[in-house]
Amino acid sequence: MQNNRFHIITYGCQMNEYDSAAVSEMFLRKGWVSVPENEADVIIVNTCAVRQNAENRALGRLLTLAGTYPESRVGIIGCVAQEIGKKLLEKYPKIAFAVGPGEIHRLPEIIAGFDRSAHLDVDCLDGKGLRAEIKSGSVKAFIAISRGCENFCSYCIVPYVRGKLRGRPMSDIIEEIKRDIDLYVVEITLLGQNVNSYIDPETGADFAELLEKVDAIDGLRRIRFVTNHPKDMSERVIEAISCLPHVCESIHLPVQSGSSKILKLMNRGYSREKYLDIVRKIREKMPDIALTTDIITGFPGEADEDFQDTVTLYREVGYAGAFAFRYSPRPGTAASNMIDDVPEKLKIERLTAIIDMSQKFAEKFSKSLIGKNRKILVEGESAKNPGMVFGLDRAGRKVILPGKKDLRGQIVNVIIDRAEKWFLFGTKI
Ligand code: 5AD
Ligand code: SF4
Repeated sequence: MQNNRFHIITYGCQMNEYDSAAVSEMFLRKGWVSVPENEADVIIVNTCAVRQNAENRALGRLLTLAGTYPESRVGIIGCVAQEIGKKLLEKYPKIAFAVGPGEIHRLPEIIAGFDRSAHLDVDCLDGKGLRAEIKSGSVKAFIAISRGCENFCSYCIVPYVRGKLRGRPMSDIIEEIKRDIDLYVVEITLLGQNVNSYIDPETGADFAELLEKVDAIDGLRRIRFVTNHPKDMSERVIEAISCLPHVCESIHLPVQSGSSKILKLMNRGYSREKYLDIVRKIREKMPDIALTTDIITGFPGEADEDFQDTVTLYREVGYAGAFAFRYSPRPGTAASNMIDDVPEKLKIERLTAIIDMSQKFAEKFSKSLIGKNRKILVEGESAKNPGMVFGLDRAGRKVILPGKKDLRGQIVNVIIDRAEKWFLFGTKI
């Protein structure tokens, strides 16, 4: 009987996507085969614990899979494994393994050894030597540059489940990027919970220096990075982004709230004024930058006027896009000891208001690009539009244009003719 067919299911952020691709690469190197779930000997569910509903969704899927495939070994990795993996193994004999994000590099050995003890050393891995699988034909790749976070924003479970901030050695990051370029990748996204506080453990180099080194790699055409913490957005980093030719003009700068009172309760380390000051500095250097953000509605103590502060800040910055969430208390965090006093209905009302506003501003941003010449990195054929290809402009907007798949991997100049909220149509010149 075969015992080397695996299937990975991923929930959550881009870091989880990267981790799953790294796990996949480890198994493939050992001669395992990636197959659909109904043919797999081992099913791995990579989970997200950042909000309760994300956690519930991943756990529901895990338990359904374990029930549907009693002959396979079904196990959990990722942030929920770290949070409650031990309890899950005790409660559900059907779950075959639980491995936290700090030990994924040991997964092949744990699975091969039928090891059912929980593996939860959060700080064990700095990412050195991990290589994420590149899907064939992909022109874009993610590269983890650090693991963990020690900002302890009061609502956030990440520092508890992903451990302390550990920079991955710059030499290793550069090696992985070069390997990706050999596999036809031309755009990379540097990933970390907080990329702008990156420090190379070997040389002490900071994020600005990393950007410079990566920008100089032969064959790399574009660099993106997520996610940033406003308190660490130094002038050095802003300068590097504005000067380096391959670094794209888009910055994800999560604000979370526009109220200084709430920001303090969130332990974010900046006020509304400080945040707007950073935005002003960024725009002085890069007037056309696309700024995007994350917002939480209904954090404990959020009064109507605090929410209005978020609305006015949103208008003032005019974000090109945003991810908005309603506050979800997470066990063990400082905010989970505060009174969750905003009624669910109001959290949702405020969330809906932010989503509506984000769509209006997204459309405004997209429309501002009509008639402009944008550089598009073509990723492939558009599934919904025959005879068309798609790609992103440097701001991160999706653009659809007439063309064939031989354009894949090329950067083309496109005049934008028409704009929807989240994508644009144009013609190559
Ligand atoms: N409740 C709601 N949203 C949260 N986020 C993180 N923790 C929580 C929580 N407990 C959001 C933040 C963060 C994004 C990744 O998820 O906006 O930037
Ligand atoms: Fe969570 Fe704050 Fe760290 Fe982001 S910076 S991962 S929100 S603790």
